Amino acid sequence: MSLILKFTCNNNPVEVLIKPEMTLLEVLRDKLGVTSPKCGCNHGDCGACTVLLDGVAVKSCITLAATVEGKTVLTAEGLAKGAELHPLQKAFIELGAPQCGFCTPGMLMAAKGFLDKNPNPTYEEAAEALAGNLCRCTGYTKYIEAVVEASKGTFGSL
Ligand code: FES
Ligand code: FES
Repeated sequence: MSLILKFTCNNNPVEVLIKPEMTLLEVLRDKLGVTSPKCGCNHGDCGACTVLLDGVAVKSCITLAATVEGKTVLTAEGLAKGAELHPLQKAFIELGAPQCGFCTPGMLMAAKGFLDKNPNPTYEEAAEALAGNLCRCTGYTKYIEAVVEASKGTFGSL
């Protein structure tokens, strides 16, 4: 059995034929070619697959795709405006936050979801916001600093 799923992905309406048991991560990566969300643990533990669903950060590997019908999904591909990177992307680059980069798209989306609700965070608040996103390479410090720095408008208004 298959079903047709309609939702908005990175500001574009999409319509895709899926199996009912597919996760949002599978639909994004395998059906739509949206590959910034990564499959790390596939169990909701690492945050590498984090996307925004109607503005809220969710782990797409444990989100049933059928539940996003009519909703809005934003991934790292949808952050930049043309050639202009999002301030969070600039902050991550300028502060040298990513190393291998595997966790970076998930970090970006967790950070965006957080800053949209808490535009003036403390370092501790930013650290807590990224606590669900694991990184094997860094000590997290630069990611957290980048979120705080971006919140100050250093890299453009959010
Ligand atoms: S791949 Fe989804 S939380 Fe790890
Ligand atoms: S930069 Fe490599 S996992 Fe985070």
